[in-house]
Amino acid sequence: MSGAAALRACFTLLIIITIDFFATSATSSDTISANESLAGDQTLVSANEVFELGFFTPDSTNYYVGIWYKNIPDRTYVWVANRDTPVTNSSSSVFKIGDKGDNVVILDQEAATGTVLWSSNQTKANSSPVNPVAQLLDNGNLVVREEGDESSSSGFLWQSFDFPTDTLLPDMKLGWDLSQGLDRFLNSWKSPQDPSPGDFSFKLDFHGYPEAFLWDQGKKLYRSGPWNGIRFSGVPEMKSTSDIDFTFVSDQQQVYYSYEVNNPNMISRLTVNSTGTLQRFTWVEDSKSWSMFWDAPKDQCDDFGECGPYGICDTNGSPVCNCTSGFSPKNPQAWYLREGSDGCVRERELDCSSDGFLPLKGLKLPESSNAFVDMEMSLEDCQKGCASNCSCTGYSSANISNGEAGCVMWFGDLLDMRHYLDGGQDFYVKLSASDIVAYGGLVAQNSSTNGLGTLAIVGIAGGGGGVLLLALAAFLMWKRKTMPIRRGRNTEPKGARERSQDFLLNEVVVSSKREYSGENKPEDIELPLFDFNAIASATKNFCDENKLGQGGFGCVYKCRIEEGPVVAVKRLSKNSGQGIEEFKNEVRLIARLQHRNLVRLVGCCVEMDEKILIYEYMEHKSLDSVLFRSSPAKSVQVKRRAPC
Ligand SMILES: *[C@@H]1O[C@H](CO)[C@@H](O)[C@H](O)[C@H]1NC(C)=O
Ligand SMILES: *[C@@H]1O[C@H](CO)[C@@H](O)[C@H](O)[C@H]1NC(C)=O
Ligand SMILES: *[C@@H]1O[C@H](CO)[C@@H](O)[C@H](O)[C@H]1NC(C)=O
Ligand SMILES: *[C@@H]1O[C@H](CO)[C@@H](O)[C@H](O)[C@H]1NC(C)=O
Ligand SMILES: *[C@@H]1O[C@H](CO)[C@@H](O)[C@H](O)[C@H]1NC(C)=O
Ligand SMILES: *[C@@H]1O[C@H](CO)[C@@H](O)[C@H](O)[C@H]1NC(C)=O
Ligand SMILES: *[C@@H]1O[C@H](CO)[C@@H](O)[C@H](O)[C@H]1NC(C)=O
Ligand SMILES: *[C@@H]1O[C@H](CO)[C@@H](O)[C@H](O)[C@H]1NC(C)=O
Repeated sequence: MSGAAALRACFTLLIIITIDFFATSATSSDTISANESLAGDQTLVSANEVFELGFFTPDSTNYYVGIWYKNIPDRTYVWVANRDTPVTNSSSSVFKIGDKGDNVVILDQEAATGTVLWSSNQTKANSSPVNPVAQLLDNGNLVVREEGDESSSSGFLWQSFDFPTDTLLPDMKLGWDLSQGLDRFLNSWKSPQDPSPGDFSFKLDFHGYPEAFLWDQGKKLYRSGPWNGIRFSGVPEMKSTSDIDFTFVSDQQQVYYSYEVNNPNMISRLTVNSTGTLQRFTWVEDSKSWSMFWDAPKDQCDDFGECGPYGICDTNGSPVCNCTSGFSPKNPQAWYLREGSDGCVRERELDCSSDGFLPLKGLKLPESSNAFVDMEMSLEDCQKGCASNCSCTGYSSANISNGEAGCVMWFGDLLDMRHYLDGGQDFYVKLSASDIVAYGGLVAQNSSTNGLGTLAIVGIAGGGGGVLLLALAAFLMWKRKTMPIRRGRNTEPKGARERSQDFLLNEVVVSSKREYSGENKPEDIELPLFDFNAIASATKNFCDENKLGQGGFGCVYKCRIEEGPVVAVKRLSKNSGQGIEEFKNEVRLIARLQHRNLVRLVGCCVEMDEKILIYEYMEHKSLDSVLFRSSPAKSVQVKRRAPC
């Protein structure tokens, strides 16, 4: 070969390489301008090669334009453009910016005029960009924007993130742009081979106390529960970690949920699959596969309305459905046959003046699209507000991210509650005064009538199982073998009676000036501390002669300590299982609940392993006759005896 020929060959090769180089660079850019188009075999690749956009076919017949992860071998589509208008000939179709420059289209190039097969449609009125470009960003967002205007803050002319398919990527928003009337929601594929719109959608409802629903066409399948400041109330396992941050925004302009992944090596997506399950996956590089770490609905209690109005679902129960205290099955036969969807009905009607509230612990808050929300109100005002509106059925705080803040009130039936062993929240259900007496709860602020107080019994649960009932009514709970709701922590076996109490709050904050100084370190409650020896001698060493009665948690004695007034002394049994902290909690609670309608706590005694509570003595020596009176609708009134 002559030198000249070799040179020519080299030169030709160089030209070929150059052409080739330009060809590839044209197809692997992240941007197309208005005069360019993407043919069936070309793709856009985002700047850092995270996502790729192009034509694909899931079934070798229909072609779609979609976005997938460039570097994940297990081809995963995160967005599909022409879901319901597939093209059948990818070699004659192109993807490009629309004529007006503010949207994207798929054209059939064969037709002389270039028939529009699919269009993303114009979304912003009167936008006429000069030099529009379409760009695939590294977060998977395909945007149409003015060339040179890189900032997203000025708003893209169009973006795929506003029209999700079945996948929520980090930075995407699930929910509403209220000013534009834009609802961004997930909609499943019809089947794994068919990206056309399926039956299942996951949508945010901005009404009331916002929450997201999984729909099967017109039927609610699952509910996330409202956002409580930390997580969705129905997703207790949802915790912001160092890798993922969850965001929820709710204001006049927008209501949305979104998440961010902080770890650059972590790939995460939320999707609703074609058989109607929400799933969150992360990519595991080692095994080169997607790992599902959360899905919903995952159990019977996730099924929307499983236990009907006022029913509470608990997967650890058998049956899973139980009525809220104060309610009984509407259709007992169906209920017995484990069909709970008819729910429960009130055993005693509210009278709208003396009603009170029963605290329930560990709940997924009820369906809340009709709820009233005020982020500024205190929980106390919330209770007053709910007490003063006859149609209010319950309340809770609206933001638990930093203690309790804000107020939510529910009106009408309470739907789709469930109980969690871990991660649920406090909810206060309105019950008639007599149910409050029976189940232990809070008296409504203005429940008292005509000078004779309505008696309220306060039941409290120590987190670990310690339980205290007002001394004279200890029998009541003891006798109530059929508490409607029995839940417990599985770790320690407990009596059913005690377990049922886990549902009640172990501390209720009621403003108080009283303080109690505890055993060793000073605490935030002050109550007279009595000397054990003085009590022992006053009760003649806890002699039966002075005994008023016995409850599950100890005996109650009548006595007069060192020439003081007559008091009722409750000596907690040593095997009550109650620890010192739980005891203090109880004391603190009772002390704060000082109210003329309650039996007053006048002191306590903590010495060695003795725990003693000292109450004002009330004349009627046993309340159970009053409490178990056959006509429960009648409000129970006990005249308090003036101090001796
Ligand atoms: C397309 O238009 C851009 C400006 O918008 C221009 O820079 C580019 O050269 C054009 N390309 C072709 C192939 O016409
Ligand atoms: C698809 O389009 C190509 C290019 O326009 C054309 O040659 C081919 O015949 C078309 N195929 C079908 C099945 O229409
Ligand atoms: C665009 O508008 C047409 C006509 O109203 C409609 O059929 C089509 O579904 C719209 N496309 C999208 C992506 O919404
Ligand atoms: C959808 O997810 C559920 C639960 O993870 C799974 O059992 C089901 O097979 C999935 N459906 C499809 C079509 O993959
Ligand atoms: C509570 O008391 C206030 C003021 O006394 C009164 O206006 C309100 O109607 C009362 N609410 C109920 C439910 O009795
Ligand atoms: C109770 O609240 C409902 C819902 O907010 C409201 O429509 C109704 O007027 C209120 N009733 C009273 C008596 O305040
Ligand atoms: C909830 O409370 C936290 C901490 O007090 C606060 O940062 C957050 O903005 C609150 N959320 C709402 C929706 O008010
Ligand atoms: C539900 O409540 C009833 C009585 O109210 C009780 O007998 C039953 O054990 C409870 N069931 C569960 C699963 O907690």
